[in-house]
Amino acid sequence: MDNQNTINDIRSKINIVDLISEYVPLTKKGQYYWGICPFHNDKNPSMSVDEKRQTYTCWSCHNSGNVFNFIEQIENITFKEALKMLGDRVGISIAKTPSTFENKYFKYYEIYDITGKFYQLMLNTENGKNAREYLKKRGIDTNTIKEFGIGLALDEKNKLVKYLKEKKYDMNTLNDLGLANQDNDTFISRIIFPLDDRNGKIVGFSGRIYTDSKLSKYMNTKETPIFKKGSCLYHYHASKEYVRLEKYVIVMEGFMDVIRASTIGVKNTVALMGTALTDEQISLLKKLSLNVYLCLDGDNPGLEATLHNGELLEKAGLNVKVIYLKDKEDPDSYILKNGKDKFLSLIESALNYSDFKIERLRVGVNFASDMELSNYVNNVLQETALIKDEIRREIITKKLANETNLSYNTLEKKLNEYISQKKEKLNGINTDYTAKNDAKYNKYTRACLEFIYYMLINPKIIRIYDNKKLYFINADMRNLAGEISYYYHNYGDIVIADFYTYLNDKKELLVVFEEVLKLSLEEEITDITINDYVKVIADYNVRQEIIRLEEMIRKEPDELEKAKLAEQIRLLRIEGAKS
Ligand code: CTP
Ligand code: MN
Repeated sequence: MDNQNTINDIRSKINIVDLISEYVPLTKKGQYYWGICPFHNDKNPSMSVDEKRQTYTCWSCHNSGNVFNFIEQIENITFKEALKMLGDRVGISIAKTPSTFENKYFKYYEIYDITGKFYQLMLNTENGKNAREYLKKRGIDTNTIKEFGIGLALDEKNKLVKYLKEKKYDMNTLNDLGLANQDNDTFISRIIFPLDDRNGKIVGFSGRIYTDSKLSKYMNTKETPIFKKGSCLYHYHASKEYVRLEKYVIVMEGFMDVIRASTIGVKNTVALMGTALTDEQISLLKKLSLNVYLCLDGDNPGLEATLHNGELLEKAGLNVKVIYLKDKEDPDSYILKNGKDKFLSLIESALNYSDFKIERLRVGVNFASDMELSNYVNNVLQETALIKDEIRREIITKKLANETNLSYNTLEKKLNEYISQKKEKLNGINTDYTAKNDAKYNKYTRACLEFIYYMLINPKIIRIYDNKKLYFINADMRNLAGEISYYYHNYGDIVIADFYTYLNDKKELLVVFEEVLKLSLEEEITDITINDYVKVIADYNVRQEIIRLEEMIRKEPDELEKAKLAEQIRLLRIEGAKS
């Protein structure tokens, strides 16, 4: 068990608003800061950050917690790792213990690491001359080679296998890791690109041919428990610090695109490695930044992928822009041909995804055909209706009127129809989360939750609880109240953000705890209100007891026993009326 005081110390040195702002833009509104929740497909800001309590809550997906909970989830790490990470940040050192996952696959990571270094060495040997020439011809200098850990699998049989066997690694593992195939080196005569996981550790390799070989251009190590192509983004870990600076990430298709961009200082980039964008990759991107620029290949498949991926990313609540390369260029060839400044100005003038889509709608439309023209106009207006900014809507509509010779009024009328259709769909979503939340409890649940709330912020109420031995209406509430009392008597104080961590492995209690924190209540409480809670809770217990006794009467065959039970009920009713 980590020392609770150290944990609390680290937590109290970090302001949750600053921390979360690094991942999600926050806006202050009323008592809270609000932002798009990064843990579900959020469109409107439904996550609130409470600076006073140092906690966050998503009112839609119910994710909540303190700085540790946020970091654990957004970085996909364990509590221990989050503690270490935030400890480092405030200068409190926590010994690093590898996660269970890392422990289990420790050997895998180790072998890949050694292999990566081996390939890098091979690139600099006598026999690596041709590969070095090839890289040089493609304009990749030694700094870039180092930066990306580029290496070489020589044109020699089982060079790697021999090396690793000398280091006492067994053949089965090498086959399992895709470094060997039926005991022979997988990669022969290929330039090697190491693939990193989200923590920057090598989890696989891709090899590119560099001679005029007929073999497929790229070849990857196979999927293992630590590497799935679809859940990986090339250059993800290394891009992090640059994405934080630039506030957006550029998504490209291939290794060479990312590597080329890096040579001109554009390093806030990741590559899809030729796959379709998966849900896992989308959530990885979301953790990097909410602003995504798509810069895929300028050929037809690249264009299709831009439209498709843009849609997916927008649905996931990300802001999408498009850098579209003409003449079938990819970022690599574009930069080589046009240079740094041209590429930077392309980034500068990236289109909003909606504008890009509208531009694409025009392609190939025969304006002489009424049918095609009317389809086109409707499609554009439907897209336009999705745009929030009124001015942009007007600009697009005006352009459309000019382009089609239709009257602005007609188009505007139609646009407003689409907008109101969209609004109807959104109706029923109450964005006033706090009020809606408060309305959902019956008086008994409410009394219990509110009582627990005041226990958390006022020790006097804990003492009332201790004396009265209140019996809350369900076991989780009772246990939570018990924990609050216990914690208070042990630590002398309750800090809500710290109490989150204390409850970490008591998941059922966390659910109630979160409900309690969502109540919007005054901080001050009068004795009268507290007494009301106590009465309501007692009343509930009496009612439950009466229900139980009535049930017994129903089942009781003996008349005399029935009468005794009825008498008990009568007494309870009198007692209930008194309190
Ligand atoms: N890819 C792959 N396997 C292949 C082909 C491609 O994994 N057989 C992935 C690689 O990650 C590659 C990306 O898809 O970087 C895009 O493919 P492509 O555009 O063909 O590669 P480039 O990045 O343009 O590479 P190069 O410039 O070296 O040809
Ligand atoms: Mn390419």
